[in-house]
Amino acid sequence: MISPMRDPEVHEDPSSAGIADTFKSAMRLFASGVTVITAGEGSGRRGVTASAVCSVTMDPPTLLVCVNRAGESYEAIREAGSFCVNLLGGEDEEAALCFAGQTGRRGVEQFTPFSWATLKTGAPVLEGALANLDCEISDRIDKGTHAVFFGTVRKVRVREGVPALVHFNRSFTSV
Ligand SMILES: Cc1cc2nc3c(=O)[nH]c(=O)nc-3n(C[C@H](O)[C@H](O)[C@H](O)COP(=O)(O)O)c2cc1C
Repeated sequence: MISPMRDPEVHEDPSSAGIADTFKSAMRLFASGVTVITAGEGSGRRGVTASAVCSVTMDPPTLLVCVNRAGESYEAIREAGSFCVNLLGGEDEEAALCFAGQTGRRGVEQFTPFSWATLKTGAPVLEGALANLDCEISDRIDKGTHAVFFGTVRKVRVREGVPALVHFNRSFTSV
């Protein structure tokens, strides 16, 4: 009897460490746009670099973001009831690194090197970003370590003709 050929990368046990590692390896190959999700006001402002952002529906205009519940940004988003998704351009790598905690700045200090405004909800709006989507939270689902926040888009600002920042295989590039 011939035993069936098995692909060594196929894991059947979802609780094994193997599938988690392979899952991470696969997701690194998912080229994605990069955003900074911001919430709160004054010294309560917090932000997080995030690529887990997705358009959900146009009517009503809704997007979703996935945020780690262990982080400070999660608390700020939850308390504010609103957030802004700032789509980063090719020149915003410093902001991506800063809000990923890779420059040594923490909490509200992460806002210092950049210029900010507000639109409708009061969430911090990054000046010079590709686009800013100011959202009010409509729903939220917890899944494992993360929360999925659904945001109704209340105000949008767009800059045309600017390259986008893209994250692929652990590095940034611009397209
Ligand atoms: C390219 C990139 C994408 C990321 N995407 C997410 C994401 O979608 N959600 C998330 O919670 N963290 C994401 N992170 C990790 C956070 O940016 C990082 O853990 C940050 O320090 C958390 O900040 P906080 O403690 O204020 O929440 C990403 C990091 C990078 C570099």
